[in-house]
Amino acid sequence: MKEVKIFSPATVANVACGFDVLGFCLDTIGDEMLIRQTDKKGVRITTIDGYELPYETESNVAGVSALAMYNDLKPNCGFEIEIYKKIKPGSGIGSSSASAAGSVYGMNVLLGNPLNKTQLTNYAMKGEALASQSEHADNLAPAIFGGFTLVKSTDPLQIIELPTPSELYATLIHPQIEIKTSESRAILPNDIPLKNAITQWANVGSLIHGLHTSDYNLIKEALNDVVIEPQRKQLIPHFDDVKSAAIEAKALGCNISGSGPSIFALSKGEDVAKAVEKAMRGVYSETDIAFETYVSKINTEGIKIL
Ligand code: HSE
Repeated sequence: MKEVKIFSPATVANVACGFDVLGFCLDTIGDEMLIRQTDKKGVRITTIDGYELPYETESNVAGVSALAMYNDLKPNCGFEIEIYKKIKPGSGIGSSSASAAGSVYGMNVLLGNPLNKTQLTNYAMKGEALASQSEHADNLAPAIFGGFTLVKSTDPLQIIELPTPSELYATLIHPQIEIKTSESRAILPNDIPLKNAITQWANVGSLIHGLHTSDYNLIKEALNDVVIEPQRKQLIPHFDDVKSAAIEAKALGCNISGSGPSIFALSKGEDVAKAVEKAMRGVYSETDIAFETYVSKINTEGIKIL
């Protein structure tokens, strides 16, 4: 019996200005999954540990992505999937992406790696679409490729790997409330004033240049979102206070992680990232909302075999 145990990392999508196109991979937070090859054909989910999620393959994001790949490749075997979920669903740090990526990555390894990372991301998007009712890859791409990624297009899927400045660290605060991606997408405006669009695409270009040149000051100036944050921050209690505290503690920037409620900051150096964590904790400690915080190096490897 062949099986593989994998670590499927949490990710931060959007990265302030890059709604649906930019993302980066986290190091210390992620799901574990075990994918087993079986003689019996088909794809079955046999264990879900950590959170209550559907066992029916067609209703589970890991199952849907696995089935999409399985039905195309038609291998002469089946697969069982065990999910040890550590990333809370609805947290804004790519919980559904980690599941959707994990199943296809594990199956690919067991089949001798017939598919490349872009092809895996394409199948994983089918699972992601079940969770958010939209096919986007800005969490999946960094989970599968590692580091920072840019989704140039989804049809056809084109992913560009971006460099990671070596001193960049992420801090996250996860208020323990759930925001469904589908709901936080539903409140977004259909139109963007041209003035805001100009600001936003100037920031995206600047952020990418900053990543390429390790220009921390440019990264700081670029970590601004004038399109999505004004709508979505209303769903996150004390967002403005957390952002102010993080900037005061010398974060380069602080914005909503994916569709929230998690809030991320990027900092130059681990010491600053830890000071930012303390500042963020200070804000939520004054409330009755439970929360968790993390400091993480940017994970340049992405999903991996354990
Ligand atoms: N880009 C997506 C969003 C990420 O912000 O809705 C969440 O999965």
